[in-house]
Amino acid sequence: MRITVLGSAAGGGFPQWNCNCRNCAGVRSGAINAKPRTQSSIFIRPDDSADGVLFNASPDILEQIRSHPTLQPARAVRDTAIAGVILMDGQIDHATGLFMLRERGSPLPLWCTDPVEEDLSQGNPVLRVLTHYCGVDRHRIALDGASFEVPGVEGLSFKALPLSSKAAPYSPHRDHPVAGDNIGMLITDTRRGTTLFYAPGLGQITPPVFDAMSNADAVMVDGTFWTDDEMPRLGLSKKTARDIGHLPQSGKGGMIEWMAKLRPTTRRLLIHINNTNPILDDNSPERAVLTQAGIVVTEDKMEFEV
Ligand code: MLT
Ligand code: MN
Ligand code: ZN
Repeated sequence: MRITVLGSAAGGGFPQWNCNCRNCAGVRSGAINAKPRTQSSIFIRPDDSADGVLFNASPDILEQIRSHPTLQPARAVRDTAIAGVILMDGQIDHATGLFMLRERGSPLPLWCTDPVEEDLSQGNPVLRVLTHYCGVDRHRIALDGASFEVPGVEGLSFKALPLSSKAAPYSPHRDHPVAGDNIGMLITDTRRGTTLFYAPGLGQITPPVFDAMSNADAVMVDGTFWTDDEMPRLGLSKKTARDIGHLPQSGKGGMIEWMAKLRPTTRRLLIHINNTNPILDDNSPERAVLTQAGIVVTEDKMEFEV
């Protein structure tokens, strides 16, 4: 399979419109060595296929499609390479792009869990709004370990894993998590026999999550924050990384420690990086720590095969 990183930043993107933290100010002025990033989304297609699956629909989706000509194969007067959309949660940064796909001529094939479907029909009713446009052909993602396929995307199989993270603030279970608010996805290329574990929002490495990561050829996981108190320390929020469902990279029990336990050959990538995270500065000591540990910080337009 081919994986294209359409967007690698967390909610708000990088730089964030109203932010003048060291990173955001630095990338605008050129004072730091960093690349701007759009909000997190990836596109996966099987080898030798134009059509693939969009993981999450970012608010930046139109810009992302424009900057990736492979997403517009132009086989007909109206066309797209997006055969279906899979949502990992119902947050703004992963669902807002659904509005932008409304010009489709047929209902949008969409896979999400029941809690996400509920949040996107009530608290943030994008799925109801879309019934006035193209409509949505919604498929339920089960949490029982069953795998599923996306029609038109032969040779890939998908299996969801419930994660401990957070639902959006407009969810009735923001503070009372239910299984399926956030999921990770095991994507298997059935011809190659290879697997990617994708989890852009991940608060805790539970035994099933570690098991999935250990068996994957590549893991692309939550890179939101470097430290748990990153936002409070900058005076930008009272909430810690863990409070909002993101496992920080550094420190005891952080993502770096967990990744060190994976097989040496496993590809390790971070995505959904918040604009405050020092790893966005390519010359930062924090980035050097990741490089030393064999961990790659994804950037927009990155492409690789698994
Ligand atoms: C998150 O990942 O915690 C959310 O997407 C944050 C946000 O965009 O509001
Ligand atoms: Mn997010
Ligand atoms: Zn910032």
